[in-house]
Amino acid sequence: MSGAAGQRGSRAAVTENQLRRAAAPQPSRPAPLDPARIRDDFPILQRRIRGKPLVYLDNAATAQKPQAVIDAVSRFYRRDNANIHRGVHYLSAQATAAYDKVREQVARFLNARSPREVVFTRGTTDSINLVAHSYARTFLVPGDEILITTMEHHSNIVPWQLACAGTGAVLRAAPLTPAGEVDLDALLALLNDRTRMVAITHLSNAIGTINPIKRVIGWAHERRIPVLIDGAQSIAHLPVDVQDLDCDFFAFSGHKVFGPTGVGVLYGREALLEQMLPYQGGGGMINTVTLEQSTWAALPAKFEAGTPMVAEVIGLGAAIDYVEHIGPDAIAARESELLTSASQLIEQIEGVRIIGTAPEKASVLSFVMDGVHPHDIGTILDDAGVAIRAGHHCAQPLMRHFGIPATARASFAFYNTQEEAEILAQSVIAVKRMFG
Ligand SMILES: Cc1ncc(COP(=O)(O)O)c(C=O)c1O
Repeated sequence: MSGAAGQRGSRAAVTENQLRRAAAPQPSRPAPLDPARIRDDFPILQRRIRGKPLVYLDNAATAQKPQAVIDAVSRFYRRDNANIHRGVHYLSAQATAAYDKVREQVARFLNARSPREVVFTRGTTDSINLVAHSYARTFLVPGDEILITTMEHHSNIVPWQLACAGTGAVLRAAPLTPAGEVDLDALLALLNDRTRMVAITHLSNAIGTINPIKRVIGWAHERRIPVLIDGAQSIAHLPVDVQDLDCDFFAFSGHKVFGPTGVGVLYGREALLEQMLPYQGGGGMINTVTLEQSTWAALPAKFEAGTPMVAEVIGLGAAIDYVEHIGPDAIAARESELLTSASQLIEQIEGVRIIGTAPEKASVLSFVMDGVHPHDIGTILDDAGVAIRAGHHCAQPLMRHFGIPATARASFAFYNTQEEAEILAQSVIAVKRMFG
């Protein structure tokens, strides 16, 4: 349909649709979060620091824990504590069932094909070391290449350096643009028939860039190269679906997604995990042991040597329940508003420069101020009860790319408020006055 009459017709149709939609429930639209109600779930957010209400903007380092997680861990130790597997007594069977249930829950949360693809680790660092070590020993030969990017956290650089050192493989890194995005043309040019793995972060902890990992995974898979995603940051801020991403490995830490420290997850494609040699040896990961040799347990136990972090896994389950209750889409929408608003406030301050200006960002606001070291910014903000982080954020190659030693970094979670974004900006203005 064309012309004015057609336009009128389509406008009338839209209006009817709108009326119909308004009358129907809207399940796909993320519900707005009520910060006041949500903040009540986090006991630590009620604290005062140096006489001021805590403004916690260090979520990229670790997220705070809702009461539900604290209760789950405490209940486990008060009532249910036992070692898992092989126990015949009631408590052991109960703990084993609870531990296995969280594995199923994580598989659903990530949309993994099966719980066999979910390995519990100590955290993202441990997950990446597991892959780097086991994949290298299984597959890498001298001259093979591993491709990372210049924005990686040290946890997604050093394990690959160790893997290369042990096998004669070579580590390559895709460069970045001035805005702090991966230079995709350069990355594509670095993929070649010696590339054996691409390891890339989903969301930069230092500057907040969201990488177009689906495209990168597509390019790598066209060349039959597996891809590991460092999801340490994205797991708390973006919806993650490993089948939709089609990644081969996805690593994250419990503590960044409102769960306990000391627990993490490695999602791994079953066919790859099956082929890979175990990471560590010990109890729980074997099928049979003789003094001469051993055979391995089925997935995922093959990669879980020793007594695992039972209480922490239970706590992680409670954290995922909590996140699912709020909804990853609603979380992403709320944090995007906060980040946009805080960025607008900070970039208006003369002498302050935001580091990392990619159009696609989440949660992280990194900045520098003329003539003031980020550590001084962090210390002065702390006096106002504002917790941010200052330093290289375990991303020294990224800092080198920007020609700076460090940044001040505010990182938001869904429980932060607009008022806190304003306190951040006012405190940064106060720092400027102090040094001006
Ligand atoms: C992007 C990224 N990767 C890896 C890590 C390492 O996580 P963890 O120290 O929990 O193992 C972090 C932690 O800050 C991170 O932000």
